[in-house]
Amino acid sequence: MRSARIRLALALLAATSMTQAAPAADPVRGKTLYETRCWICHETSVHSRSPRSAKTFEDVRGFVARWDKELGGGWSPEDIDDVTVFLNGTYYRYPCPASVCKANQALAR
Ligand code: HEC
Repeated sequence: MRSARIRLALALLAATSMTQAAPAADPVRGKTLYETRCWICHETSVHSRSPRSAKTFEDVRGFVARWDKELGGGWSPEDIDDVTVFLNGTYYRYPCPASVCKANQALAR
């Protein structure tokens, strides 16, 4: 189902991707990316359901990467980190590897 809404979301995503990449994962930017593209299908419920499919930070990142692919790709590794940190900080609260969170870890909580 490649609907007009998904095409619109992809166009908006392309626009947001033109902004500078942050040095460390940025949950605020991740929120915008997520809301632009992923909100279409599932709002908050899928991330707070029990049991959740994602059991670790890496699992969450895996889902983010999988859904990016599912929707045609286009997110850079930085975009995927940003969205993962946003989802993790908002719903999952798994320990975030220092390589991804760095100084922004406090923001994600
Ligand atoms: C076409 C509808 C659809 C879109 C668009 C979509 N998702 Fe999902 N997502 C689902 C469904 C349905 C599930 C639950 C089934 C499953 O576990 O695979 C899910 C599950 C997930 C989970 C795992 C939830 C858990 O149980 O822990 C994550 C994380 C996730 N999606 C992230 C994303 C991200 C990030 C995007 C945007 C790139 C996105 N999704 C876009 C339908 C969608």
